[in-house]
Amino acid sequence: MGVIIIIMLVTLESGCLGFVFELESLEAILFPRRNAEADADPGLIQTIFPNLINIEMDAPKALESNYPWIARVTHSSGYNPHVCTASCIHERIFITSASCIFSLKVNLTSVIYSDTIIPALAFVLAENTTKQLFDDIGFIVVKKEYEGDWSTIDIVNQNRSGEGFKWFADWKLPNTSGEYKVVGFATDKTLKENAARVPYHLHELDVIVDINLCSTILSVNGVKGFYTPCYHSCTLEEHQTNKKCDKYHGVEGGAVVDVKAQQLLGVATWSAATRKIILPVGFSVPNSKEFYENYECAMRIKNDETRVVRRPSHYQSLCSD
Ligand SMILES: *[C@@H]1O[C@H](CO)[C@@H](O)[C@H](O)[C@H]1NC(C)=O
Ligand SMILES: *[C@@H]1O[C@H](CO)[C@@H](O)[C@H](O)[C@H]1NC(C)=O
Ligand SMILES: *[C@@H]1O[C@H](CO)[C@@H](O)[C@H](O)[C@H]1NC(C)=O
Ligand SMILES: *[C@@H]1O[C@H](CO)[C@@H](O)[C@H](O)[C@H]1NC(C)=O
Repeated sequence: MGVIIIIMLVTLESGCLGFVFELESLEAILFPRRNAEADADPGLIQTIFPNLINIEMDAPKALESNYPWIARVTHSSGYNPHVCTASCIHERIFITSASCIFSLKVNLTSVIYSDTIIPALAFVLAENTTKQLFDDIGFIVVKKEYEGDWSTIDIVNQNRSGEGFKWFADWKLPNTSGEYKVVGFATDKTLKENAARVPYHLHELDVIVDINLCSTILSVNGVKGFYTPCYHSCTLEEHQTNKKCDKYHGVEGGAVVDVKAQQLLGVATWSAATRKIILPVGFSVPNSKEFYENYECAMRIKNDETRVVRRPSHYQSLCSD
């Protein structure tokens, strides 16, 4: 099974995830290093983004009781530092963006769920990552330290047909308002990033989901890319006709929810947006082959009854065929 389980220190060979920039022009964002080989498959221009910076602009506060499956991930046994948002999809199993947990240590990580701080037991990540982890979901299996009922959200129940994202376009999801919301822990964009005690609150935002958002908006000088699932606070038409599209919600692991079906359509993973430029946010749909493999692995770890785990390879061995 193609999974990597991390239960010890992770050294990140990232190159791409660890730095933060704030640039003013879209061109500068999309082509921070001009590279002749613009890689068009699956439509991601040769470009590099930092992690989503967990901010919102004019996104209303949400009640956790309306989203009892939502959780926050912290790199301590308390509320700070906050790192990202996660969703509970099964008892003791949470999903978030892979890029959120790539650089964390398992034994320092907690999931705060239903007002309870639960220590992480293991992370499960895909062995073969997609470019810049755009389409990668990370699993956190937590220890058995929560006694209450587990509220979970169902994940979208349609599989992919084929490579790339044509299947997503073929789904013909409604691209009008009121159908989808993004939910996750965010801070006001004006608060200073990385300040030790910036408060993160649960916010929600009505969003438009459309495969054409990123591929159209993030094109520069005719170079198109990013034919991937994205959401935005306004429609493509509104964006193009300079209507006010000044709301934003972009957090690592943010949950893209199908409001009527009450299903999780996606997990926010990337954006070129900065504190100054509002742009659509890309998400990963939890239905790839790797997703299912890793989910199976997370279940085996959850179900494992070994009392004293002596070797870090123990959990890995549960998932190797
Ligand atoms: C990961 O990539 C390697 C090399 O391309 C390949 O041999 C392997 O089968 C891949 N694993 C999965 C789970 O796709
Ligand atoms: C986490 O693990 C590291 C090494 O594996 C160890 O040195 C450290 O004490 C552990 N920290 C906690 C809080 O358990
Ligand atoms: C999607 O694929 C997974 C893994 O192959 C399978 O377990 C699941 O039942 C499929 N779901 C649907 C709705 O076909
Ligand atoms: C919105 O969806 C409709 C119906 O599927 C489609 O015809 C239209 O092109 C879509 N709009 C955009 C901007 O993609």
